[in-house]
Amino acid sequence: MRKKIALIGGGQIGQILAMLAAQKEMGDIVVLDIPDYVNPVKGKALDLMEMAPHGNYDAEITGTSDYKDIAGADICIITAGKPRQAGMTREDLLTTYIKIISDVAKGIKENAPDAFCIVLTNPLDAMVYTFHQITGFPKNQVIGMAGTLDTARYRSFLAMELNVSVADIAGTVLGGHGPTMVPLPRLTTVGGVPLTDIADQDLIDRVVDRTRKAGTEIVQLFGKGSAFFSPAWSAIVIAESYLKDKRRVLPGAALCEGEYGINGLFLGVPCLISAKGVEKILQITLAEDEKARLAATLEAVQKTVDECKTYF
Ligand code: APR
Repeated sequence: MRKKIALIGGGQIGQILAMLAAQKEMGDIVVLDIPDYVNPVKGKALDLMEMAPHGNYDAEITGTSDYKDIAGADICIITAGKPRQAGMTREDLLTTYIKIISDVAKGIKENAPDAFCIVLTNPLDAMVYTFHQITGFPKNQVIGMAGTLDTARYRSFLAMELNVSVADIAGTVLGGHGPTMVPLPRLTTVGGVPLTDIADQDLIDRVVDRTRKAGTEIVQLFGKGSAFFSPAWSAIVIAESYLKDKRRVLPGAALCEGEYGINGLFLGVPCLISAKGVEKILQITLAEDEKARLAATLEAVQKTVDECKTYF
């Protein structure tokens, strides 16, 4: 029996997710979107079915706006969202997003209560918190996809600067998905060689800064909309680790209950992703300056979560 993958939101990221999941033969794919957008997602699903002979995959790919169609899903990847409109305040935006995530959370809770859920919708740390509050799912069943993308960006920028294969760069980024995120150069290695032994501080600072602003850099280049290839791939990496029990250690926004001194918030931390979902949060012994940066990112996330709490 094939696995079932539900993609909630069939926009820019959702469509790339569908293509990657099909190409990797991860299972059958249902793309769910709002009724107004159901025909485009049905069209995208059909287009992908027609790509199968050359893509060399077997998968049933469908589009829907009915939550009943996600029944029995093994995994739900949530990208439902709405682009920011001109004149929208931060409050307007939060109200809109909380409404969307609430609808999605209820739909998943009623129809696919055992699915492992990966949330991508921004503001990420607050949306994954809201999703968890509304579903009441066990904490291992919910993760926010942020750190996996932030780390991919960090590794890519380092590879570009150092002119080495990105495959040889290992490192991680902690914290919230925004300008306060915490890349960890002290623990980054290039083919086993400490980054700090081969790169000067200027290079490291440049890469850290670019990583923190990477989402905005793409938005500015696009003019409209945000990144979609790299967020989709990052979510697929988490999904594969869950579906195939690969036991990858990947940064993600997980519910911390004591880890890193954090209580009751979703924050980017290294997670062991297995068939149990977020099986474990791995703890790093942080240096004093890293602890201070983590405290700052925590404060920023807490602020947005507190704003969200006023809506539900
Ligand atoms: N239920 C399901 N789908 C919804 C809902 C809803 N309640 N509301 C909106 N959508 C759909 C939209 O119709 C659209 O097709 O979600 C899709 C979002 O797609 P895009 O606007 O293209 O956004 P995308 O680039 O895919 O990003 C989605 O992920 O990284 C984040 O910041 C990004 O929050 C954004 C989200």
